[in-house]
Amino acid sequence: PAEVVVRHVSLDLHVDFKERELVGTVTLQIERAPGASTKTPLILDARELRIEKAEAGPSVEKLHPTVIDLTTPQPILGSKLTIWIQPKDSVVRITYKTSPNAKALQWLEPKLTKGKVKPFLFTQSQAIQARSWIPIQDSPGVRVTYDATIWVGDGLKVLMSAKAVPTTERMRFHFRMDHLIPPYLIALAVGDLGFRELGPRTGVWAEPGTLDRAASEFVDVEKMVKSVESRFGKYRWGRYDIVVLPPSFPFGGMENPCLTFATPTILAGDRSLVSLIAHELAHSWSGNLVTNATWRDFWLNEGFTTYLEQRIIEDLYGRERADIERVLGLRDLQEELATLPAAEQILHIDLAGRDPDDGVTRVPYEKGALFLSTLEAAFGRERFDEFLLGYFDRHAFKSITTADFLDDLKANLFAKDPKAARGIDLVEWIEKPGLPKHFAMPKSPALDAVDKQAADWTAGRLSTVQIQSAKWSTQEWVRFLQSLPTSLDAKRLAELDRGLKLSDQHNVEIVGQWLLMSIRGDYAASYPKLETFLIEIGRRKFIVPLYKELMKTAAGRELAKAIYAKARPGYHPIAVGTLDEIVNPPAK
Ligand code: BES
Ligand code: ZN
Repeated sequence: PAEVVVRHVSLDLHVDFKERELVGTVTLQIERAPGASTKTPLILDARELRIEKAEAGPSVEKLHPTVIDLTTPQPILGSKLTIWIQPKDSVVRITYKTSPNAKALQWLEPKLTKGKVKPFLFTQSQAIQARSWIPIQDSPGVRVTYDATIWVGDGLKVLMSAKAVPTTERMRFHFRMDHLIPPYLIALAVGDLGFRELGPRTGVWAEPGTLDRAASEFVDVEKMVKSVESRFGKYRWGRYDIVVLPPSFPFGGMENPCLTFATPTILAGDRSLVSLIAHELAHSWSGNLVTNATWRDFWLNEGFTTYLEQRIIEDLYGRERADIERVLGLRDLQEELATLPAAEQILHIDLAGRDPDDGVTRVPYEKGALFLSTLEAAFGRERFDEFLLGYFDRHAFKSITTADFLDDLKANLFAKDPKAARGIDLVEWIEKPGLPKHFAMPKSPALDAVDKQAADWTAGRLSTVQIQSAKWSTQEWVRFLQSLPTSLDAKRLAELDRGLKLSDQHNVEIVGQWLLMSIRGDYAASYPKLETFLIEIGRRKFIVPLYKELMKTAAGRELAKAIYAKARPGYHPIAVGTLDEIVNPPAK
């Protein structure tokens, strides 16, 4: 890309549910950097794509066949696709099909949807899966505009991470993204989808049977957008919509521009899990507007976003709730730090030779956010907000590295208050493992009270019926369970279950934690629920810890294998990739 770079991507794809293939063409507008050799070919990423032909030319009207090379695939990066072009060529067209196993794509039979009548397809391009459905320069340092024509069978709706352009045919959909975005933000969803308006530029898409619940869960979305806009600059993407995907979506959320992809597991009925939406929305500034240039800089996306997410929650629901989330985030981070090798505890992580998905730990999220909270505390909120507003503006629609961020920080924040700056050890924050000696410690009296009850119950000073849980929020429930010792046996778990009706809980965050404890204590009463949970839900955050816990004992391994055999066909290729290694580890 430093010599021949893709500037615009134009897709024309047919969605074939029967063959599980996307079939068609991509037309790339390319640019040769000034001074680049006229012999340099176009080099793209590809993964399991079946390439039929490639053409190149000075314009779309004058395309001529051209020679390509496709290397044998590497496990992490896939194949290098070289397209030999003439010096005057500025357009390349590739005719191709995706593989039925494409890593970015999940093809769902009707029975795996809510409505059970129509099939569903969705993509997940981050981090480096775009190459499994589009031959493209799949690096976040390359930015492209795109347009797309997508053809589907009758009665299906197509959504993309772009502006929808109306067409006259029911089975052809058209989209345009006129802002420069990194390739990992190109996204597609196809299914039986209906729409509900939330505000003037906000709305939600979901299968008809889920639409009412989704619209009621997300009532605050327009307020969230306004909250970020009032401090950090206007929302620059036109519409902000959310699409609720089937439960096999392997993530909680994905910040595809104009259209956040979300798991249905956040539809708790009480709006208790909407911080996930605050998070994906915040990426419209941190991530989509200002993007990590390489996956080593991933913390610039997720740390800033986690910080902004907490600010949105504070604005809409108050300091107490935001502090609860900050404290829970810090606990998660500390627990994970205790298990991670030093090299993975570093914000500016070294990913040489590794899969960028390996860098997805709590470190970029929570350590990154803690760093920003610490800056906020040192410089004052007013000055820090002013810095962030400027930061998003200075780097809008650009991809930047950690070094670019540090230069900007020194010039635009540290220079304004050298005394405050002296208290911040940048090398320690950015390049060192663990947590720095000084950081802004979040505090939550509400969680302290929960911890006290957990300790008292554990020590036998409090009986199960005496636990005051009536007013607990979801977060307090989760905290209570997490604060109990990991060694509780089936007898103690049964006591808890009777007293607190844990088996009747529906909130996934609480159920996920309860099932984890049930495996640890071999509380067999939870096993039927465990099986249903693992079969219905494909969200990695919940299912990975459960399978890992099961794999620790012989009986658990048997159960894990039996459940996995049933659940695997319903999981996304990304989840399958993770779980195959956990449940059926390659013999060493
Ligand atoms: N962009 C991430 C999801 C992601 C990261 C996908 C890396 C692939 C590679 C998204 O914004 C995210 O962080 N989602 C979280 C939820 C969030 C509230 C922490 C998730 O899915 O759990
Ligand atoms: Zn994120």
